[in-house]
Amino acid sequence: MNVYDSWRIAAMLNARGMTQTQNVADADIIILNTCSVREKATNKVFSELGRIRDTKKPDAIFGIIGCVARETGATAFHRIPELNFVLGPQSYHKLPAILDDPDTKLFNIDLTGLEKFDEMPQITTAPVISYIPIQEGCNHCCTYCIVPYTRGREISRSFDDIMRDTIHAAKTGAIEICFLGQNVNGYNYTDGNGDTYRLSDLIRDTAKIPEIQRIRFTSSYPTEMSDDLIDMFALEPKLLPFLNMPIQSGAPDVLKRMNRPYSLDSYMEIIEKLRVARPDIQISSDFIVGFPGETDSDFEQTLDIARRVKYINSYSFKYSPRPHTAAALMPDQIPENIKRERLAILDNTLNEIQREFNESCVKKTLTCLYEGADKTGRHLLYRTPYMQQCIVAKPENDVIQPMAQIKITAANRASLRGKIVSD
Ligand code: 5AD
Ligand code: SF4
Repeated sequence: MNVYDSWRIAAMLNARGMTQTQNVADADIIILNTCSVREKATNKVFSELGRIRDTKKPDAIFGIIGCVARETGATAFHRIPELNFVLGPQSYHKLPAILDDPDTKLFNIDLTGLEKFDEMPQITTAPVISYIPIQEGCNHCCTYCIVPYTRGREISRSFDDIMRDTIHAAKTGAIEICFLGQNVNGYNYTDGNGDTYRLSDLIRDTAKIPEIQRIRFTSSYPTEMSDDLIDMFALEPKLLPFLNMPIQSGAPDVLKRMNRPYSLDSYMEIIEKLRVARPDIQISSDFIVGFPGETDSDFEQTLDIARRVKYINSYSFKYSPRPHTAAALMPDQIPENIKRERLAILDNTLNEIQREFNESCVKKTLTCLYEGADKTGRHLLYRTPYMQQCIVAKPENDVIQPMAQIKITAANRASLRGKIVSD
């Protein structure tokens, strides 16, 4: 979501005649977009801001945006007095004010709406895989998570605005659309006529756009996988057979303390329904290890569920206490060395499952999406329907197929190798 926001901000600055540079010392404006989900990234922000202050041109303006801006608020100006602006995640459209008057201190951390998407210009050339945000914020209150505080309550964008952005992306280069939201399957928009739209409606209409060949969405909350959405996996071939549906932990006691109100049985039932709808579907998850009070046997249950579901492409994190969250105040915080040990064990398990899945793809032919050449220029990089990277030799005639049938010839944990087969 931050990457997408940064693209839109860059488009806004391009429209004012500015171009992008990778070099802080050359820049006239420097914007640090930040994430506060875990402590480690947050800790780096102020040292990075200090470095920018010491490297930038004297009259360059600089500021901080994103969730750390929202969380630290005006204290950011106390810590780095030279800062010109501090903007929370829903105020980026206010940025041009600072260009009009660089002497002001621009400050806005309101979480009141999603006008930013309507007020900022569109990205002119859409990437092949285009992200389209459909909702922001979260009404779940997981006890470890800072998102409801930094991004606010859930707001769904209007159906028409999303479809306008999706069609624009399709007309300017997108082949795959990934709908984005902290709680993407909670998307729920009622228009002026009282008609309600859900994620399944967005998928159905997007699939009708000829340029769009692949659709996916992230991140889904398990109890909000409604039947109309599950049915889409059976009805709509353009919807990829791949779903990120974080379980976070495999231990019922931990899930209870995380305030994630589902049982392992109900979670597995959703997966069964998904597999009935799309037998080849693969699931990925986010995991947190070392949540307060997590015992060895709780952790074993997380390993068990990972093996049972055979998650691919998962993300795992050490629990990180965050301000404004209930879990940060819970007793029995787990020592760092145990968190580190558990993370290494879980990562090994997940890697092994991923390697097995990648190996099971060998000899299969998959329809893949071209993403770009590798660094050497001798290979082409494609994305499989399960978001694995697949490396193929550059064809001698230099003709690149945006979508190609690729026969997988080899696999390791991180990627696949294959050969383009003619239709
Ligand atoms: N500590 C560790 N991981 C966290 N996540 C969210 N909050 C925390 C935290 N306090 C992880 C969850 C979520 C992902 C985006 O970040 O796994 O799904
Ligand atoms: Fe955070 Fe996701 Fe839980 Fe919402 S559902 S509070 S974003 S972890």
